[in-house]
Amino acid sequence: MGILGRVILRLMPITPKFFIRWVANRYVAGSDLSDAVEVMKKISLEKACFTVDVLGEEISKIEEADYFINEYSNLIDAIVKNNLDANISLKPTAFGLLIDYDIALVNIEKISRKAAEGQIFVRLDMEDHRVTQSTIDVVKAMHNRGLTNVGTVLQGRLFRTNQDIDDLSSSLRGVSDVRICKGIYLEPANIAHRGYQDIVDATNSAIDRLLETSSYTAIATHDMPIIKHSLNAIAIRGMGPGIEDPREGVSSWGLGKGEGYEFQMLLGVRGNVRRNLAKQGHRTRVYVPYGKRWYEYSIRRLRENPDVAWHIAKSMIMPWTNRR
Ligand code: FDA
Repeated sequence: MGILGRVILRLMPITPKFFIRWVANRYVAGSDLSDAVEVMKKISLEKACFTVDVLGEEISKIEEADYFINEYSNLIDAIVKNNLDANISLKPTAFGLLIDYDIALVNIEKISRKAAEGQIFVRLDMEDHRVTQSTIDVVKAMHNRGLTNVGTVLQGRLFRTNQDIDDLSSSLRGVSDVRICKGIYLEPANIAHRGYQDIVDATNSAIDRLLETSSYTAIATHDMPIIKHSLNAIAIRGMGPGIEDPREGVSSWGLGKGEGYEFQMLLGVRGNVRRNLAKQGHRTRVYVPYGKRWYEYSIRRLRENPDVAWHIAKSMIMPWTNRR
């Protein structure tokens, strides 16, 4: 971490909320659903589609899940009403996964069923290792109840990921849809890679495995070595923009998906790389977070990625570079 990063992290606890909000503005759509809709309408001009996240995670009382059920329900209505090319991402612990598996299942089913009626895909974000297996179990349970519009995320850094890819691909019979990312949680060394290169190599290997097992492969990264690896992995399998997914056992993906794969990036991060991929014809999806918990999310992003400090400095000196 550079000196600037260290200084900004130190100053965060005494930084006025209005300043954090100004910084967050690039990474968070806003506090209300209407803010998210506005942001999507603007960015859709860049040939992007979206996955929308209502900010917030692990609840401590099961009743708190009601807020997320209501908000996601309104979100689905807004996507349909505004005819947006968007799906939704939700955190299972916000629906009670760490409190009561069966209640969480009922809560997630409510949203997934409503989403299915609107032809909308539901992505269960992957949280830390306490819920890796239960999140996968929820996906399988949804498919068993006929809700094939549900998929999840796997993290390249976890040693178990290639087995999870095989498991999902065989259990979901041709409709496995996985977002693959490095994984944001610092997991114990006995279950996860911890060095940068090991994580990149493992994530690239997971991307290859997803492509080989005919899973829909949503590549979520801003890291150029992984993007380059993915572009090559897609091309050597005869996949690419405008080409129907040639893999065995795969039919048309529907639900606003691409030709067997897509690239996903966070709102406000490396928009130039995303726009370039879109120009080349690849399906690109922006992860759009919004909600009342914008402050906590922004502080987490700042801690997570000291590069943000550089973006802050740059956007103060050259405001025109502060583009989502
Ligand atoms: P890396 O961190 O090396 O980033 C490469 C460059 O991108 C950085 O140098 C920086 O310039 C820029 N950058 C990256 N992240 C940034 C940020 N937050 N702010 C500003 N600049 C940034 N993880 C998880 O455990 N479960 C999940 O469900 C998801 N879901 C998810 C969805 C989407 C759409 C994305 C893009 C990522 C996730 N992640 C996630 C997070 C993921 O696991 C990973 O932690 C981050 O994407 C950072 O890793 P990169 O591969 O982008 O590389």
